[in-house]
Amino acid sequence: MCGIVGYVGDKQAQEVVVEGLRRLEYRGYDSAGIALVEGGVVHTTKRAGKLANLDKALADEPLPESTTGLGHTRWATHGPPTDLNAHPHTDCTGRVALVHNGIIENFAQLRIALGGRGHTLTSDTDTEAVAHLLEEELGGGTDLAQAMRAVCRQLQGAFTLVAIDGDQPDVVVAARRNSPLVVGRGNGENFVASDVAAFISHTRDAIELGQDQVVTISRDDVVVTDYDGAPVDVREFHVDWDAAAAEKGGYAWFMLKEIDEQPQAVSDTLLGRYSPDGRLQLDEMRLSDDELREIDKVIIIACGTAFYAGLVAKYAIEHWTRIPCEVELASEFRYRDPVLSHGTLVVAISQSGETMDTLMAIRHARQQGSRVLAVCNTNGSTIPRESDAVIYTHAGPEVAVAGTKTFLAQIVACYLLGLYLAQVRGTKFGDEIAGIVGQLQQIPAAIQRVLAEAEPVRELARSLVDTRSVLFLGRHVGYPVALEGALKLKELAYIHAEGFAAGELKHGPIALIDHRVPVFVVVPPKGRDMLHDKVVSNIQEIRARGARTIVLAEDGDEDVVAYADELIRLPKVPTLLQPLVATVPLQIFACELADALGRDVDQPRNLAKSVTVE
Ligand code: G6P
Repeated sequence: MCGIVGYVGDKQAQEVVVEGLRRLEYRGYDSAGIALVEGGVVHTTKRAGKLANLDKALADEPLPESTTGLGHTRWATHGPPTDLNAHPHTDCTGRVALVHNGIIENFAQLRIALGGRGHTLTSDTDTEAVAHLLEEELGGGTDLAQAMRAVCRQLQGAFTLVAIDGDQPDVVVAARRNSPLVVGRGNGENFVASDVAAFISHTRDAIELGQDQVVTISRDDVVVTDYDGAPVDVREFHVDWDAAAAEKGGYAWFMLKEIDEQPQAVSDTLLGRYSPDGRLQLDEMRLSDDELREIDKVIIIACGTAFYAGLVAKYAIEHWTRIPCEVELASEFRYRDPVLSHGTLVVAISQSGETMDTLMAIRHARQQGSRVLAVCNTNGSTIPRESDAVIYTHAGPEVAVAGTKTFLAQIVACYLLGLYLAQVRGTKFGDEIAGIVGQLQQIPAAIQRVLAEAEPVRELARSLVDTRSVLFLGRHVGYPVALEGALKLKELAYIHAEGFAAGELKHGPIALIDHRVPVFVVVPPKGRDMLHDKVVSNIQEIRARGARTIVLAEDGDEDVVAYADELIRLPKVPTLLQPLVATVPLQIFACELADALGRDVDQPRNLAKSVTVE
């Protein structure tokens, strides 16, 4: 939520910063702006709307050449998305330019106090107050980093701040509390950004910053301190993907590329986690076998798509480990006084590793003495840093706002956790675990087949552009798949969509059914249990009431044929693994329908990929 980039080096800062913003635009696209230092003066250009508007403004009126600068792409919180509220913000003298991600909670008091001291604030934002506070601190000849530390001590809330000062043209200073910030270390150049994607085409060497730290970058140096100015230890890391991974690579949308990358995302998440001696090994587990044997409850917390991955995981974790497992929205968890103990393992699933609700929830859990394990796709982010253990999903960068490949990778990572717990606690024999790992290893090929056979799904989507409402039904692990299918359609096509547990159909949702409502039904594999037959009965019930049924069923399932207006075939896989194939046609359907409606598939309205405010 809001993308930030800062640069000092020998290249043209405008080019570096705008390129960085382009890679960060997934974080927010209400406005974009840039500021550069040249000749002792800060020069700023900013525009409401997407980055293209800023590009045009810079083409019409180029900024002077400069090698020090910063930029921002906004997801509006305080004040509407106008030119005036766009970042960077400046102080009364115009000497400081500042960008911000997060919310300054005490901004109202600060604004009043600043007004009383003669400052004139022109925007509706919480950010602008900070620019004026910096102005006051700098007045006494203090350097920018010192001023930033003094200002941060006055702020409440969550923030990443990046500033430049016309009087100190060779440095960019940044600070963070509860919002993301990483440093990119180059050769004769350095970067700060919300995400490594911003500087990945220049360097893959990065530094993870901790809580309440201030960093000063210059051409050849990176200095990190706490808010009192004391030096602190930092963790350096190397980014294991390159710039090409963050490009569209010939696809019309990042989302299409990311859907196609799912077989790779699944196999990379499995890679190296199963040793030749037949045991699972999780490199950043960091919790001992004894600690894992003490666990008597698992609580999964997450938001959005990650929450649905958690709902899927619950079925497998309970089945394999016999440990009770709850799944809860991170935004609800913290405020309901959950029962937590040392024996509780809290599993936080987050693609970005920065979602504020999830971060606050894990802090709460740790304060209560619980152990926290993160399932995360972003090295260097805050949630894994503050967790006792991490299982990284190796899905690579995901740029489209709507999650796809990370959803599948999250399910796989949670399954690895479930199997690992089963291994340590002895609730599954080694050969049973090996069998399930073997089945997981078959999944990339199964997804590949779904992708290869997706044209009828795309045709179906194009035939439904006039639809106003779509329902999704599923049962057992098919239920979260239905929820995810509905979420994708809402997010991308702005069409009303709801997912229901098929067993709940008769308790209300069936009243929504008529001939205008297409209903997707995820049918469980035939297997040995009764679930399959019950869902087939549900299809008959809704069809009898006039619905158009779109049925996802495994190869060879002939029971559904008579009741399916449209039939989408899925490769045969075990029940617990079915979400890894059944979700894919629903992603493709939502993407295609949104595209047919002329929506911006990668950047849906009002959304942001990384929600760093509560
Ligand atoms: C936002 C994104 C979703 C994502 C959710 C959780 O709402 O638009 O795609 O699922 O945040 O994000 P996280 O990074 O914690 O997985």
